[in-house]
Amino acid sequence: MQERIVLLGGFGQLGSLIQETVPAKVKLFTFNSKDFDICNLAQHQSVYKDLAPTTIINAAAYTQVDNAESEQERAFKVNAQGPAMLAEACPKDCRIIHFSTDFVFGGLQQTAYKPEDVTAPASIYGASKLAGEETLMVLRPESTIIRTAWLYSAEGHNFVNTMLKLMAERDELSIVNDQFGTPTSARTLAEVVWRFVANRELKGIYHWTDQGEASWYDFAVEIQRQALELGLLSKKISLRAISTQEYPTPAQRPEFSVLDKTATYEAINFEGQKWQDELKKVLMLKL
Ligand SMILES: NC(=O)c1ccc[n+]([C@@H]2O[C@H](COP(=O)([O-])OP(=O)(O)OC[C@H]3O[C@@H](n4cnc5c(N)ncnc54)[C@H](OP(=O)(O)O)[C@@H]3O)[C@@H](O)[C@H]2O)c1
Repeated sequence: MQERIVLLGGFGQLGSLIQETVPAKVKLFTFNSKDFDICNLAQHQSVYKDLAPTTIINAAAYTQVDNAESEQERAFKVNAQGPAMLAEACPKDCRIIHFSTDFVFGGLQQTAYKPEDVTAPASIYGASKLAGEETLMVLRPESTIIRTAWLYSAEGHNFVNTMLKLMAERDELSIVNDQFGTPTSARTLAEVVWRFVANRELKGIYHWTDQGEASWYDFAVEIQRQALELGLLSKKISLRAISTQEYPTPAQRPEFSVLDKTATYEAINFEGQKWQDELKKVLMLKL
């Protein structure tokens, strides 16, 4: 079967890399937020009628974690009502692949979260993404949802690029050292998405991040170390480890949100690499 794929949110961080890594045999139809608003049911219906997709990949989302605290309605509209409309309009035999977040978890567990572990989002963003998951699982239980975390890529607005910019401009930076998760290359996730596309039997919720765990401070230290080694930065600056209390943000984030990928490794026969190795691959794209 030739896959005909509609990609929503195709110009965001993950969407761009899904586009870049598309296998030759796949016919991909990519939409940005201006051509296709995922909160417009009529648009879903007419696009799917015209294009007859075999799979719809939804990389569109409201992802501004702190702004969501004051834009609750918008966050829920894009992250929950959007997926509901997608599920309603999706043709009968068409598959949905959707993304969610480690922020659906409360963060008080001591061991990596399994897909079936109890959710308890601490933020509006996390709650809106959880509502999107639940809606999809009720309306289209055969959908595939990939929860991921701490995404970054060579381009665009993300922690790696923010750190590189600030490290070049400042003499000292203070970074939170009591929130733990896993930095994850959006490029590798995009490759993982294509493995999921290749197996239509994979339904339900899966977890994907690169391997290992880190605090934001650990991540910043490694970014600086590798960037100096590669010549992307010319001077070493002082990095100060601080607590979440010392860096208050509108949204509460989980203290610990490492995801257990055991089921995914078995499902797609791929385990990825340590986050430090993935970071190196991304930084090398900047040379
Ligand atoms: N980034 C992370 O660290 C992270 C962590 C865990 C999970 N995730 C999940 O991974 C997925 C991809 O995230 P990402 O980092 O690629 O996010 P992103 O860069 O913010 O991309 C999201 C895309 O969605 C589009 N969008 C927003 N509202 C829309 C609407 N109403 N209709 C159509 N498109 C709309 C945005 O377009 P405009 O820019 O034009 O608004 C943007 O291109 C999301 O489901 C996210 O929740 C991300």
